[in-house]
Amino acid sequence: MRTIRVFDTTLRDGEQMPGISFPVNFKLQIARQLDKLGVDIIEAGFPSVSQGEFEAVKEISNLGLNSKICGLARIVRSDIDRAIQADVDFVHIFISTSKIQIEHTIQKSREEIKEISVDAVEYIKSHGVECMFSAMDATRTEIEYLKQIYKAVEDAGVDVVNVPDTVGVATPFKFYELIRELKEHLKVPIDVHCHNDFGLAVANTLAAVKAGADQVQVTVNGIGERAGNASLAEVVMLIETIEGLKTNIKSEYLVETARLIERLTGVKMPPNTPIVGENAFSHESGIHAHGVLKEYSTFEPGVITPEMVGHKRRIVVGKHAGRHQIEKLLRDAGYSVSNEILMKVVEKVKELGDKGKKVTDLDVISIAEVLMGEIKKEEKAIILNEATVITGNKVTPTAVINAEVFGERKVTSSVGVGPVDASLKAVAELVGKSIKITEFKMDAITGGSDALAEVYVTVEDEEGREFTARGVGPDIVMASIDAMLSAVNYLMKMRNSR
Ligand code: KIV
Ligand code: ZN
Repeated sequence: MRTIRVFDTTLRDGEQMPGISFPVNFKLQIARQLDKLGVDIIEAGFPSVSQGEFEAVKEISNLGLNSKICGLARIVRSDIDRAIQADVDFVHIFISTSKIQIEHTIQKSREEIKEISVDAVEYIKSHGVECMFSAMDATRTEIEYLKQIYKAVEDAGVDVVNVPDTVGVATPFKFYELIRELKEHLKVPIDVHCHNDFGLAVANTLAAVKAGADQVQVTVNGIGERAGNASLAEVVMLIETIEGLKTNIKSEYLVETARLIERLTGVKMPPNTPIVGENAFSHESGIHAHGVLKEYSTFEPGVITPEMVGHKRRIVVGKHAGRHQIEKLLRDAGYSVSNEILMKVVEKVKELGDKGKKVTDLDVISIAEVLMGEIKKEEKAIILNEATVITGNKVTPTAVINAEVFGERKVTSSVGVGPVDASLKAVAELVGKSIKITEFKMDAITGGSDALAEVYVTVEDEEGREFTARGVGPDIVMASIDAMLSAVNYLMKMRNSR
């Protein structure tokens, strides 16, 4: 079976996304994660750009990773030397080949561009380093010239040629034809680099693979210049599950990698991001949830499971919810309700949804408890007595929680990056380390500095059972503690009922 090589350029083209600049420690962390993910080649940066960039690339080259490390260089001796000095395995050289870029930027003849490209390849190879050549703006370059220049660098010993769709104007049909034509003309492996200006980067990459491309350039979460590059997760999962080809990616780390990049860039993925987004395997509609609870492939692609990419399937309650998912939620919480009560809960959930309210698992349980006349405060596993939280510019944020845990007084404390973090950790301490916070969201529901904060906390127990609860109040720390306590109380109650 054909194995397609994955070339990740998150640390180079990804970092060219406006507003992003990775400090060296972030670059090292990302490189290690890409290596763990199984990326074949990591483009670690553009060493001639700055001293810091050079040092970062050099450090990454010397981490002893399994992935090969690549550095970008213009076809200029000083750039190439800098990349070689950064100890990379691969030098990626690029030069404009389209009429518009040649005329307005480099102002050289086509013959001269070809000659200096050949010289650069020979120079890199004479240093015992691998070389990839990019004809920049290939998709707007005359095909005859493109074939000539790629053939010339192939004859000079280049290891890979890259076909960049620099301004994202390719379409899958045209790109397929272009790659097929180049494939017939060349022996050297072909790599493609697609930009997403028309939202076609992933589709074009896939078309290129179908036409015979051997290597794909991608970035985590599709970050990159302008509208970005082809997304690693989407390209890899399409190649593997729809096309039935192989990559060396360990797909179970895709979500973990996407979340790391989200955190280090501060660029949030929309929840509907394919494969790795929060909603990629979430179901709200009653019809879908009912189907999925019976057989997941009824309303999912089927060829991919959340576990394959390190994700989780979620059945979410909302106004489209049906009786099956609400019944399951209540059953999991230890309630067996009559059909009449169940229908009333469904009706109430829809009513809240119509009012634009987000309904949490705990809301559904509370509605059912009210309808069953079963609100027993004393049943709570944890009752908060006191919460003391300190923060400031000269103190480490610290929280002390005093509570009754199953009737016994317990005091826990924790420090954190901020008062909320410290408080939630101190609450988790009340029940031991087995409770993990998997999600935390906060919205202001009114304006002004006295706004009411609405906090959603999702916690997970050691069996992977997740539960979301809400806290509302003018004090964000107390609203967070309330949400966390509600969620933890629920998990403890479920554990006890089992
Ligand atoms: O988009 C592009 O053409 C590039 C090159 C450096 C390959 O990023
Ligand atoms: Zn690019």
